[in-house]
Amino acid sequence: MKGIILAGGTGTRLYPLTSALSKQLLPVYDKPMIYYPLSTLMLGGVRDFLVISTPTDLPLFRKVLGDGAELGLRISYAEQPLAAGIADAFRVGAEFVGPDPVSLILGDNIFHSPELPDVLARSMKDVDGCTLFGHTVADPRPYGVVEKAPDGSVLGIEEKPSRPRGSEIATGLYVYSNDVVETAHRITPSARGELEITDVNRVYLAQGRARLHSLGPGSTWLDAGTYDGLLDAARFVREQQSAGGRIACLEEIALRMGYIDAAACYSLGKKHKNSGYGRYVMEISSNTDWGRLTYVAQ
Ligand code: DAU
Repeated sequence: MKGIILAGGTGTRLYPLTSALSKQLLPVYDKPMIYYPLSTLMLGGVRDFLVISTPTDLPLFRKVLGDGAELGLRISYAEQPLAAGIADAFRVGAEFVGPDPVSLILGDNIFHSPELPDVLARSMKDVDGCTLFGHTVADPRPYGVVEKAPDGSVLGIEEKPSRPRGSEIATGLYVYSNDVVETAHRITPSARGELEITDVNRVYLAQGRARLHSLGPGSTWLDAGTYDGLLDAARFVREQQSAGGRIACLEEIALRMGYIDAAACYSLGKKHKNSGYGRYVMEISSNTDWGRLTYVAQ
């Protein structure tokens, strides 16, 4: 299973915060935003990633994440010169996807859900079609809105409807079988000139190959792409971490997933021992009481 993190776009909704720095590198409390979506896919078991961003911002993502080897991952990079739409990720990333199934996560989507690692890992096995992850929100109008039948089956998905047919939205996390590359090449741009991910999902829906997993009430989903969303996300992370654990600590997840050993984890933490993050990584690397690790609750 490959993983694409889409981290391009113009970030105009966050101007002037984004005038010199990519949205997905802005801080969400104690980490760059991209740590959160990367950690979500890592928790699902993905190890091979493509980060897509603008030609200007891509070198900064490389600086932050490198080639992933220190975490037992493979991280490669591709340019998206124009914000041609979310589904354009499968055109830009066609070569990276190769013959494999692929998961896609938007670089400004933050998940915190006890069920998600298991659900994601299961949805990544024997993939046929697509799996969407739904979340109920107070105002669904700015999102892709899922219309459900009383038995829970998906009747339709509509992008940014003025009159939504429900309050459950498709979050920016998707799992697809390999034919998504072909599907993304077949769809045409929407009225706003973008290759819409909702149009891709509709193809699978029409084929009876779209599944929806509705995230339960214990799950948090945040779109950090607005001023308030960014602040809410930072507050949420601070509150969750106040008990001593950490959300989206990449080294901790790599250790727990068995990608790196305790010694490697400790030395990664030691490099940043002046920060609370670095000291946390050093501390957890010598802790064998796995039950305490935050990833379990993520
Ligand atoms: O956040 C969930 C929502 O994300 C879904 O419910 C919608 O169905 C989906 O269309 C998307 O809606 P947004 O309005 O949030 O999409 P936006 O255009 O803001 O793009 C989301 C992220 O993807 C953003 O961080 C920038 C990045 N992006 C976007 C486009 C269009 C790119 O990297 N390249 C692009 O071409």
